[in-house]
Amino acid sequence: MTSESTLTPDRIMQLGLGFWGSKTLLSAIELGVFSELADGALNIDELSKKLRLHPRGARDFFDALVSLGMLERDGELYRNTAETGQFLVRGKLGYIGGMLEMANERLYPFWGSLTEALRTGLPQNEMKTGGAGLFESVYGDPVRLRLFLGAMTGLSMGASQAIAAKFNWKDYQTVVDVGGAQGGLLVQLCLTHPHLRGSNFDLPVVGPIFEEYAAANGLSDRLSFLPGSFFEDPLPAADVITMGHILHDWDLDQKRMLLDKAYQALPEGGALIVFESLIDDERRQNAFGLLMSLNMLIETPGGFDYTGKDCSEWMAAAGFKTTNVVPLVGPDAMVVGIK
Ligand SMILES: C[S@@+](CC[C@H](N)C(=O)[O-])C[C@H]1O[C@@H](n2cnc3c(N)ncnc32)[C@H](O)[C@@H]1O
Repeated sequence: MTSESTLTPDRIMQLGLGFWGSKTLLSAIELGVFSELADGALNIDELSKKLRLHPRGARDFFDALVSLGMLERDGELYRNTAETGQFLVRGKLGYIGGMLEMANERLYPFWGSLTEALRTGLPQNEMKTGGAGLFESVYGDPVRLRLFLGAMTGLSMGASQAIAAKFNWKDYQTVVDVGGAQGGLLVQLCLTHPHLRGSNFDLPVVGPIFEEYAAANGLSDRLSFLPGSFFEDPLPAADVITMGHILHDWDLDQKRMLLDKAYQALPEGGALIVFESLIDDERRQNAFGLLMSLNMLIETPGGFDYTGKDCSEWMAAAGFKTTNVVPLVGPDAMVVGIK
């Protein structure tokens, strides 16, 4: 037990003011700090000029990024770290900044109203002022659409690679990714398993961006787009159906409806793979999964995240014979149900 005299407020203060560091990184991405440093180190004047920064905050801003481990400084020269050089340079294949650009543009202001969300149970995004829901408002604007779909690829890249490695794909020939966005998962699956063919079942507006990404990865002959809505249409048939970050967007009845539709679309022995940041069964450890669920409170009328045990129970109720929860990478895990 910690005695009272050894207690310090450090952890509380660090968490309470955590948004300082978070917003410093988000502004750096918005300004393009890491992209400007892609071709090599720059000194403070060169970097400030490229980013059009006022001198007052520039040195503190860059040095704060150094102290947060997001930049390195050699004498007068600032350069990317190995991580920021790989993941935060716009236009690079591994770019995950789309997710963080969206966090900066939308989530950061919306999370300012978390208290109100907790009191009312109502979303705090565009819907609050009579606007459309998450997908309608993001998808109505071509720039936001591209940003969102790219963000999904970045967010799911680690999980996609782990799913390619950790499931027995050799026993299956076809896969439909429901709500597959830009195609991040399907591309990883097909690059790793040359026998697989895949389709993305998503809203029609996603089609051209998916096809562009499939072509950029040389997979146009093995990947196709199937336009539709999982609320109006049955799910397309395949040996394996995948759903990444889909169920958490919707309420319990809608979740169950999607699992029922997946069951209907699979053959005997077919597999459903549900993946996201599953909350640990004890609901104590996976802070990212729990905070993601609060993000669903902010962003959707009824969405919430859930544990592997919850999902296994819903799958069993839909008719799946066996279910298995498999950790993927970081906070992500998948639930595999076999029909
Ligand atoms: C949160 S994203 C998940 C993207 C991807 N599966 C991943 O894990 O990175 C949700 C996806 O569901 C799609 N979606 C939303 N409503 C849909 C609907 N009614 N029918 C089909 N897809 C839908 C969106 O277009 C988007 O691609």
